[in-house]
Amino acid sequence: MENKSYSTIYRIMHWAIAFTLLFILFTIFLRLTWLNRETVANIIKANLPADKTLSDKEIMTIARQIRKPMWDWHIYLGYILTGLYIIRISLPFFGQMKYSSPFKKELSTKVKFQFWVYIIFYICVAASLFTGLMIEFGPESLKDQMEEIHVLSIYYLIPFLIFPIGGVLLAEFTSDKGIVSRIVSGKKNN
Ligand code: HEM
Repeated sequence: MENKSYSTIYRIMHWAIAFTLLFILFTIFLRLTWLNRETVANIIKANLPADKTLSDKEIMTIARQIRKPMWDWHIYLGYILTGLYIIRISLPFFGQMKYSSPFKKELSTKVKFQFWVYIIFYICVAASLFTGLMIEFGPESLKDQMEEIHVLSIYYLIPFLIFPIGGVLLAEFTSDKGIVSRIVSGKKNN
């Protein structure tokens, strides 16, 4: 296989998108585990002084407020990713990070598959960004539907973060030695 070198712009975009997605995944992980509002509400309930009582609604409100500063980061990272996504899809118009068409006849099945995976990934990210922005800025009447679609993001996010790491490591040790250092440093192997 030809040892491809990666331009500086390619590497900056690649790592910026990858780290932003990882941070988004981290916020979701915290929301589902340690900072889950039921978990926090139970801690508050269990630690209330014996002479103090709060309604479940009041406890849930406090639990949500404790989680809020962390969860705000999900939204900020969502805005950052929206910016990165717009830059990514605009770059080919400036001669950088050209789109790879899976329809070219001369491509092997493996490469076509790889290009389809990229396309599906970008469509899934666009759907998450669109529905996330609609939850924040869209009409109230669509909020529930948008939330239902948006929370499904986890089902592509985890495989899309795990499979590329596995695929790159497999390539590094088999057909494409040096791919990891090239995507970090950009230098081509001799
Ligand atoms: C690729 C980008 C994104 C991914 C993968 C993603 C993923 C997710 C997931 C899996 C959840 C559900 C978490 C849970 O219920 O435990 C969630 C919730 C949420 N996301 Fe995102 N998100 C992304 C971008 C955004 C953006 C751009 C915004 C807004 C600017 C946003 C706003 C929200 C909000 C408000 C919720 C809470 C919805 C609720 O209360 O049910 N997200 N996101």
